[in-house]
Amino acid sequence: MARAMGVPNFGVPATLAGLSDGVLRATVENGKGRMMPSYKSRLSPAEIAAVVAYIRTLSKH
Ligand code: HEM
Repeated sequence: MARAMGVPNFGVPATLAGLSDGVLRATVENGKGRMMPSYKSRLSPAEIAAVVAYIRTLSKH
């Protein structure tokens, strides 16, 4: 399903290499493309920062 939707695989280091924390934050806040919803009204700024930090851990070994 994820593949069909084109969701990025954060377990692959190359996926995150080109994405700054600012881009990750903006993507969570505003959503992206036709499939990914905005989380701005559902997560606080601190929660969004925590999500960005968590995404960074996914491709570390
Ligand atoms: C809090 C949960 C989520 C986080 C942290 C998250 C994070 C991200 C990030 C960082 C990207 C990559 C942005 C880029 O390449 O510039 C992305 C893309 C995407 N996400 Fe999410 N996402 C979440 C939830 C979702 C959900 C619920 C869906 C769909 C039901 C979704 C669908 C997508 C899709 C389809 C893309 C690719 C969009 C495109 O390149 O046009 N995401 N997401």
